[in-house]
Amino acid sequence: MRPVPVTKRLFIKTYGCQMNVYDSARMAELLTPLGYAAAEGPAEADLVILNTCHIREKAAEKVFSDLGRLRPLMEEKRRAGGRMMVAVAGCVAQAEGAEILARAPFVDIVVGPQTYQRLPELIERAAALAAEPKRGAGLLDTDFPVEPKFDRLPETRGTQGVTAFLAVQEGCDKFCSFCVVPYTRGAEYSRPVAAIAREAERLVAAGAREITLLGQNVNAYHGAGPDGTGWSLGRLLMHLAATPGLLRLRYTTSHPIDMHDELIQAHRELDSLMPFLHLPVQSGSDRLLDAMNRRHTVADYRAAIARLRAARPDIALSSDFIVGFPGESEADFQATLTLIRDVGFAQSFSFKYSPRPGTPAALAEDQIAEPVKEKRLAILQDLLNRQQRDFNRAWLGRTLPILLEKPGRHPGQLVGRTPYLQPVHVAAPAELIGQERPVLLEAEHAFSLSGRLVSEGNDCMHDRMRVSA
Ligand code: 5AD
Ligand code: SF4
Repeated sequence: MRPVPVTKRLFIKTYGCQMNVYDSARMAELLTPLGYAAAEGPAEADLVILNTCHIREKAAEKVFSDLGRLRPLMEEKRRAGGRMMVAVAGCVAQAEGAEILARAPFVDIVVGPQTYQRLPELIERAAALAAEPKRGAGLLDTDFPVEPKFDRLPETRGTQGVTAFLAVQEGCDKFCSFCVVPYTRGAEYSRPVAAIAREAERLVAAGAREITLLGQNVNAYHGAGPDGTGWSLGRLLMHLAATPGLLRLRYTTSHPIDMHDELIQAHRELDSLMPFLHLPVQSGSDRLLDAMNRRHTVADYRAAIARLRAARPDIALSSDFIVGFPGESEADFQATLTLIRDVGFAQSFSFKYSPRPGTPAALAEDQIAEPVKEKRLAILQDLLNRQQRDFNRAWLGRTLPILLEKPGRHPGQLVGRTPYLQPVHVAAPAELIGQERPVLLEAEHAFSLSGRLVSEGNDCMHDRMRVSA
């Protein structure tokens, strides 16, 4: 491919989940042939894209305050005879596109997560509109196309770095009663195995050593295999593990009801499948799980973890929790704390329930008062933070293979991650970026570790554990 001269600057701000990080990378690639290269900040940009998140109220509010900050920059540019175009993409665009154009009429483009492959054409049309003496409203493109966007996007050039994301599945048919995802990302869709394998090869050729397979419901993956049958995520992982040069595989986010046997088997058999799983449970109360339409019980969740631990005894777990879901009693909340104590999480994310427009739970009458939500969240996070610190502390004095990803904050320092996803700072030369090296873990910080390189021959605790597994 011939390099395209850089004629314009692009700034993308990404909010929310890893799928948005992936989408932002794909948008940047899509716009490179049009002459766009990364800008340092919005002030230098000819095009600003806000790739937004609608999962909780706070995330959505940020978009409007960021738009407020962009407006004077746009005016400044115009006064100087230039032009800054603003596009709102992602899930807020999908859910509140018309409202965005009403509240912020200076926005040029509103594009949903399923249609951003059309950005080049939208930019051209928006530029033509802007040239008209009487400007119309911005362009709105938020339909759910029949063809999945993946068939329309150009192949990735794989510019994400040592650790890369790869979307294998998108959308969700589960309809948990609190969640906007089925409405903003649409119906579940799994990409074919061949397209995923090709993208993995491209990522590795461009320097990726770890790939995280992404999907809103990644373990519901059932894409077409080369043999024409639907492949499970477990089978896909086994296939991708054979990609030359790929050291590590991860996947996120999973649902407890889709922990199928082939996936458990992949955890048992694949050394490159990292022993860490983000498996959201949301609550430890069966009554609430039912009200949340989660389709699993606490016992199902415990059973899934028991199967995983039988297959891979050192697996570290992470979860999402919601406190203050409508009708949550003190006993429900205590049941969540009990589950957390019993399982023991290496890391977790927890949130106050946020009523989302259009979701069933938002209409429930027994909403929980804000101070109760706050109190419960503080108690829950205190427990989860203690578990995370205990998990990290348990590794001090031991050696783990660290995939060195990028320079750290201090000169001469690199940052990488353990197989269990813990960030580690280590004094190491930049040439080691992209390599996995044994590191003796020596100190623990607020949610990360630091250590020093040890020679290759050193006994590596992780390998020993793997063999005994
Ligand atoms: N309120 C609070 N948290 C939510 N999540 C999803 N929807 C809501 C909501 N309405 C959380 C869930 C989910 C994570 C991505 O965000 O825990 O797993
Ligand atoms: Fe949302 Fe539930 Fe689907 Fe996860 S499984 S994306 S929480 S609806």
